[in-house]
Amino acid sequence: MTTKYAETAPATTGTKYVGRPIDRLDGLAKTTGEARFAAEHQYPGLAHAALVHATIARGRVTAVDTAAARAVTGVIEVLTHENAPPMKPAPKFSVLDLSSLASGTSVNYLATDEVHWNGQPMAVVVAETPEAARHAASLVRLTYEERPAVVDFAAEEPNAVQQRSNPVMPSAADKGDARAALAAAPVSVDLRFSTPPHHHNAIEPHATTAVWDGDELTLHEGTQNIPWLRKHLSQRFGVPERNIRVLSPFVGGGFGGKGSVWAGTLLAVLAARATGRAVRLALTRESVYHTVGGRTPSTQRVALGADAEGNLTALIHTSVSRTSRIGGMPEQITSGSRHLYAAQNVHLRQNLVQLDLLANTAMRAPGESIGTFALESAVDELAWELGLDPIELRMRNEPERDPLHGKQFAHRMLREAYALGADRFGWRERDPRPGVMRDGRWLVGMGVATAYHPSWRMPASVTLRLGADGGVVVRCGLHEMGMGAATAQAQIAADAMGVPMEAVRVEYGDSDLPPGPGAGGSAQTASAAAGVLAAAEKLKKSLLAMARRQPDSPLRGRRLEEVEARDGGLFHGGRGQTYAEILAGAGRDHVEAAVKSGMLSFMARTLSERRRYVKAATGAQFCEVRVDPDTGEVRVSRWVGVFDVGTVINEKTANSQLRGGIVMGIGMALSEETLVDQRTGRIMNPSLAEYHVPVHADIPRIDVHYLDEPDPTMPLGLIGVGEVSITGAAAAVANAVRHATGKRVVDLPITLDKVL
Ligand code: MOS
Repeated sequence: MTTKYAETAPATTGTKYVGRPIDRLDGLAKTTGEARFAAEHQYPGLAHAALVHATIARGRVTAVDTAAARAVTGVIEVLTHENAPPMKPAPKFSVLDLSSLASGTSVNYLATDEVHWNGQPMAVVVAETPEAARHAASLVRLTYEERPAVVDFAAEEPNAVQQRSNPVMPSAADKGDARAALAAAPVSVDLRFSTPPHHHNAIEPHATTAVWDGDELTLHEGTQNIPWLRKHLSQRFGVPERNIRVLSPFVGGGFGGKGSVWAGTLLAVLAARATGRAVRLALTRESVYHTVGGRTPSTQRVALGADAEGNLTALIHTSVSRTSRIGGMPEQITSGSRHLYAAQNVHLRQNLVQLDLLANTAMRAPGESIGTFALESAVDELAWELGLDPIELRMRNEPERDPLHGKQFAHRMLREAYALGADRFGWRERDPRPGVMRDGRWLVGMGVATAYHPSWRMPASVTLRLGADGGVVVRCGLHEMGMGAATAQAQIAADAMGVPMEAVRVEYGDSDLPPGPGAGGSAQTASAAAGVLAAAEKLKKSLLAMARRQPDSPLRGRRLEEVEARDGGLFHGGRGQTYAEILAGAGRDHVEAAVKSGMLSFMARTLSERRRYVKAATGAQFCEVRVDPDTGEVRVSRWVGVFDVGTVINEKTANSQLRGGIVMGIGMALSEETLVDQRTGRIMNPSLAEYHVPVHADIPRIDVHYLDEPDPTMPLGLIGVGEVSITGAAAAVANAVRHATGKRVVDLPITLDKVL
């Protein structure tokens, strides 16, 4: 039996485990190497695949020469558009079916001779060893007929058109007359920003092991969304979903790059079907860059007008990002600007260009991460113009209700976040004058910025099973990308059922389980928690009903509200029964409760909730930098982040999530940049040697604090910690550099040449 969610998730009683810094349950398996990732599964006759990438941006293949590749010892097959079995076309995107987001692109790989981007996979080599496959792939010769391609974002940017709007992610907003207010404002700033493309660089490059048995497919894959992946494969390969099993117990980082279905997955499945072999395709880092969309570049304008006291009279934020002719994801770059400041007049626009590049995709806080860089840099610059402390300027413009529509904030504690952060960081010691604080020869700068990320929930189905031994099994196909997702649900289930954590087992990462929420939008923990809480409630109800039928039960006549789940049973005052006793008395060896949540009712609920509330995680980022006055080198020397993320389920894993976001934010600020050849559309730095993510030596101690007050509109009051901390981070660095040097850098990354 199953039920829908209650409109409001039930509250739980005790908090024995929730909030505690508990070690990840999968930590041991990962540190001992026992954990097996998608590319680590052995099958009899396992073959290995490698991709051949297009070397032009647009056109078609006129000739294919695979003779040299086929001559390599160990090569089993070379698949191109001339001989590959067909795949069905990708489904079109539909707002009513978010799983259509699983189509990373609309390209029908290997069914067409058309080239849509430089790097598109045009052939797949299958061989007995990965070395043979990769070597043979390098020998495949393709001849092209080139067509003109548009690949230069900067050149195309003036031709941008407004993004299509949808109810949850609007692309425009107007209040009053922002342009007139800006012109009339006694104090104003008007800045242009640019941010480069970024790539996810998960520690585990994308990998697939695909095994067909007749019309049944087993797939090992690190994915952020098992239901979407399975549905997409079902559509592309024309087999029912029930024939496909996706196993994804360990995902070595995703950050959005494993949320859609990209070429490697599809081509591994296709190659396995074509060769009748189990096929593993472990992408090289370079192949990841060529086949998995990264973050869009952007240009942005933020113009702010204020009266002499710093009250905002005008806020203008416009952006241009890019998608591709073959798909891509428009970003909500101005999302923070909708909700952060009480400006009297507002004008927001998100615009798009389409290029002949691989489709872009979501990357940690898509929209907000780059949008807050521009907004929060501009707010800082306005503080300089006003001669006002940047925190004071923000507090003067902190709205009581949503500035655009007057909606209520579900939860908003930015004042408290800044107060706590200023205290912990030592903001009072900041000399407000630029370029005067020093540490030896280093210039010292301190900057702040606001973090903002909307809170989402997704559908999640959960089954809870209680065995005669008092053990609880949580079954939910959720995704463990390293953030401690299963650990958090074990804590929640243990508290809800009143059992020790050791008695809880969480089953996840498998399409045979009840479908879990996707690991995206910082929504997984809250979404699954709602299911776990609802299932626990049902389970306790069944158990109480069993107990009440037992003649000598001390729970006879008791209602659910009167009993407490603790010590492995149900109790009223000092008296009660353990679960084992209740089950034994009922002659049962287990009891189960299932909760199902469907997409349509879920979307309806989300929309109605969003008509009433603005829901978000927020935070205050404090950054200190040291800048070398001679070389322009910037070192981040201290960081304090205070976050309003509602209830913190696990202080240890939440800390890691928030620190990780800040680390990525520092990378975005100082070094990360995908370089695209503006003539050929080719990515010039597709490796960790040339795309610089921060290393340990780049990162100081990061202090993370919480306000830890529940959001009353969220399950257990928890908001989600995956993305908020990358937002505002790059601006905090830029603002600290501005304080240290007097120089406002508006183009990311902040490299030496821009500081000097
Ligand atoms: Mo994400 S960018 O919600 O994995």
